[in-house]
Amino acid sequence: MRSKLFFLNADKPSFTHSLCVLFFLFLVSPPLAHSNSCVTAQCHSGLVSKPVVHQAAREDCMGCHVRKVETHPSPGQKTFALAAEGAALCGGCHDEKMIKEKFGHGPAVQGDCLECHNIHSSDHKSLLRENQQELCFKCHQDFSEGMKTAAIIHNPVKTKPCVSCHNPHSSPFESLLKGKMEDVCAECHQEISDKSKKAKTRHLPLSSKQSCGSCHLVHFSEHKKLLQFSEKELCLSCHDKDYTGKDGGSKKKGLVNIKKELEGKKHLHGPIKEGECSSCHDPHGSAYPRLLTNAYPSDMYANYKPGTYAFCLSCHEENLLRFPDTTVHTEFRNGKNNLHFVHSARKLKGRTCRTCHAPHASNSDKLIADEGAPFGSWNIPIRFVIKDTGGSCSPGCHQTKRYDRLHPVNYGDEKSENEGTGEDTKKPTAKKQGDKGQEVKEQENEGPGEKESLGAPVENEIIDAPEEKENAKK
Ligand code: HEC
Ligand code: HEC
Ligand code: HEC
Ligand code: HEC
Ligand code: HEC
Ligand code: HEC
Ligand code: HEC
Ligand code: HEC
Ligand code: HEC
Ligand code: HEC
Ligand code: HEC
Repeated sequence: MRSKLFFLNADKPSFTHSLCVLFFLFLVSPPLAHSNSCVTAQCHSGLVSKPVVHQAAREDCMGCHVRKVETHPSPGQKTFALAAEGAALCGGCHDEKMIKEKFGHGPAVQGDCLECHNIHSSDHKSLLRENQQELCFKCHQDFSEGMKTAAIIHNPVKTKPCVSCHNPHSSPFESLLKGKMEDVCAECHQEISDKSKKAKTRHLPLSSKQSCGSCHLVHFSEHKKLLQFSEKELCLSCHDKDYTGKDGGSKKKGLVNIKKELEGKKHLHGPIKEGECSSCHDPHGSAYPRLLTNAYPSDMYANYKPGTYAFCLSCHEENLLRFPDTTVHTEFRNGKNNLHFVHSARKLKGRTCRTCHAPHASNSDKLIADEGAPFGSWNIPIRFVIKDTGGSCSPGCHQTKRYDRLHPVNYGDEKSENEGTGEDTKKPTAKKQGDKGQEVKEQENEGPGEKESLGAPVENEIIDAPEEKENAKK
């Protein structure tokens, strides 16, 4: 019997050799004990009565059983033995490669095939002893416990057999996966997978071996989107140190330690207060610098056109940079003179928001960057002071300047912040938003060359910009 198994399993012996063996077997074997003769109404009828029958049992009981004694049945005596034990029995007909890959599954490698399979027939596909999940949970009990209480269960773990991602026997891939983790995920999440590989700005963990598993649990989780921790905690679990840029991620000078940047700060940027990073950064990859979700220039200066700051303006007042004069769209104005427009909405060398604002957190009001904006190797200090109706800055760019919404500062006379007149006590009257009448008036104002006050505030800036008036057309 062994020789027959050997023959079926053989890949080394030549075809003619095989024929010889076959002929030999034909001569020496007892007459084949066909299933028909073993399975009758009286005998062994239960063995192959289930819907899924092992083809081997349908064809030939003696494929696996060898006769020990002549007379069968012989009460009190074992009349048959198995042709081989464990995996070797199966290996007679099935390719043992199935359990020989680099990462093996304990019970299969041990040859305990019958922990999972019925041998003659079964109610379940692939001769399984139970339906798929229950089969796995028989041993992976902590898993089934976890799944009962988890807040979120990954859809395919609920709806598909475990073997849609795992190989039950052995696999060349870790965790018995059917492919590399990213490929397993890509089968259903193609879009994210493409983004992670092709986006202009890529996120380094996605190309690590852990890939998607760097951030996600794949079966179930206590956190939304199957994250390992709450989102902020997750991001800060890696961004709690400086990156030097040497590990192949962002090409530019590395990254600052975000955890440190947030720690102990008086003001956090709105979404971060809510524990979110992904409202601004796409963790899977992005077309914009720093994985941002929309357009944002990456330098100190940017030539302004509509859309340059789509990122910030996707959450903030969309008209922030639209009108040279306004009484509603920003508090950063001197009288009506929109100082955001003055600084940032320039066709050439507009100051990007980072000149004044910190992206994540600050001790100053309005997220003004305490430590100043990096300008080469120097940080430009801002020294911002906020007042009820305005404020002042003593930046590295120009001498101290005040702005006041109610009593506009005349920059011709202005010397220094200390000469303030005390008019700051009055409350602002303009509402930030929703003043429709006002808005119409502004749009009427939106003509070329009518903003005399416009050039004045920037006169004595270190870096001058000649095209302010043209911008007024925008
Ligand atoms: C593919 C191999 C294989 C084939 C073919 C096979 N058996 Fe078995 N059989 C086994 C194995 C293995 C066991 C031991 C099962 C166990 O230990 O749970 C077994 C056990 C048995 C037993 C005793 C234990 C029991 O399950 O009641 C009987 C009786 C039996 N087989 C009869 C048959 C008959 C009849 C056929 C043909 C219709 C057949 N077998 C075909 C592998 C096979
Ligand atoms: C005598 C040859 C032979 C032996 C020994 C044998 N099998 Fe099979 N087995 C087959 C054949 C033939 C098929 C059907 C062809 C196929 O699906 O590849 C099959 C199919 C299977 C299937 C798939 C059933 C399905 O419906 O998809 C499983 C599972 C299986 N065998 C398990 C085992 C296990 C476990 C052992 C050892 C305990 C074993 N076989 C031993 C011949 C054998
Ligand atoms: C941990 C449970 C488990 C063990 C142990 C196990 N199997 Fe399987 N086996 C499965 C499951 C589940 C499937 C169905 C796979 C699928 O549907 O993709 C399967 C499918 C099969 C198949 C048919 C499909 C295929 O992959 O070719 C064969 C043959 C098979 N097993 C043989 C064996 C043999 C031989 C052993 C012992 C060496 C064994 N199995 C051990 C769970 C197991
Ligand atoms: C008979 C018991 C048994 C059954 C049934 C069983 N497993 Fe396992 N499984 C084990 C053991 C033992 C380990 C090794 C545990 C360890 O190393 O911590 C394991 C490990 C694993 C691993 C991790 C391998 C690794 O490299 O980390 C996966 C994945 C796995 N099993 C999937 C399954 C799936 C899917 C099923 C159902 C088709 C299943 N198991 C059914 C016993 C079982
Ligand atoms: C959507 C694909 C997918 C499905 C479905 C799936 N797994 Fe996994 N499983 C994975 C991946 C990917 C890993 C590796 C996780 C990692 O390394 O971060 C894994 C790891 C494991 C491990 C080893 C590590 C651990 O978490 O303990 C076990 C055990 C396991 N899976 C069992 C199961 C069982 C049981 C089922 C069915 C209830 C199942 N898996 C369904 C993808 C899947
Ligand atoms: C067999 C298909 C399939 C595979 C493979 C698969 N997923 Fe999913 N996944 C889904 C489906 C379906 C959903 C639910 C989508 C929905 O609700 O819109 C989902 C949802 C998710 C979610 C969001 C969960 C939530 O609560 O909103 C994450 C995260 C996820 N998958 C990650 C992964 C990762 C990582 C892998 C690779 C280990 C993976 N998926 C493999 C089908 C799959
Ligand atoms: C750096 C951490 C990180 C990595 C690595 C990562 N993700 Fe995510 N993923 C997240 C975060 C955070 C969210 C939730 C925020 C969001 O929806 O963008 C998320 C959400 C998802 C969602 C749900 C999307 C939706 O719209 O509901 C899916 C699906 C998903 N990820 C799949 C993947 C796949 C597949 C991979 C691997 C190619 C992967 N993720 C790698 C952090 C990550
Ligand atoms: C409100 C939008 C917003 C939120 C929320 C946000 N970021 Fe940022 N992040 C930015 C902007 C804008 C930049 C680019 C700053 C620059 O280039 O001046 C940035 C830059 C970064 C950088 C690159 C830093 C460097 O040295 O260039 C990292 C890393 C980062 N963010 C991580 C995070 C993490 C982690 C969170 C959640 C705790 C988070 N971000 C939340 C807007 C945001
Ligand atoms: C597993 C560790 C890990 C996790 C978790 C992680 N990151 Fe990263 N992230 C990195 C590494 C590594 C880099 C590349 C560092 C470098 O450039 O040297 C990076 C780069 C970045 C960059 C700059 C990309 C560029 O090239 O400009 C941003 C922004 C960022 N991460 C935000 C996030 C956010 C938001 C989260 C949470 C959703 C997050 N990261 C989670 C490891 C991680
Ligand atoms: C995903 C939405 C989102 C994006 C994108 C975003 N912010 Fe914010 N920002 C907020 C929220 C929410 C607040 C808190 C608003 C509040 O408290 O009234 C806030 C507050 C601020 C504040 C403080 C306002 C105050 O009244 O204290 C400033 C300044 C600011 N953001 C600037 C920016 C800049 C500059 C950018 C672009 C680099 C940006 N934001 C991008 C959502 C966003
Ligand atoms: C020259 C410095 C400077 C630049 C550049 C700058 N801001 Fe501001 N921003 C301020 C000051 C000062 C305030 C506080 C105004 C107040 O409340 O008195 C402010 C306030 C804000 C506010 C709160 C709402 C409001 O308008 O009063 C938002 C939102 C904001 N800035 C977004 C931006 C965006 C987006 C950019 C880039 C397009 C930008 N800022 C560029 C100085 C600046």
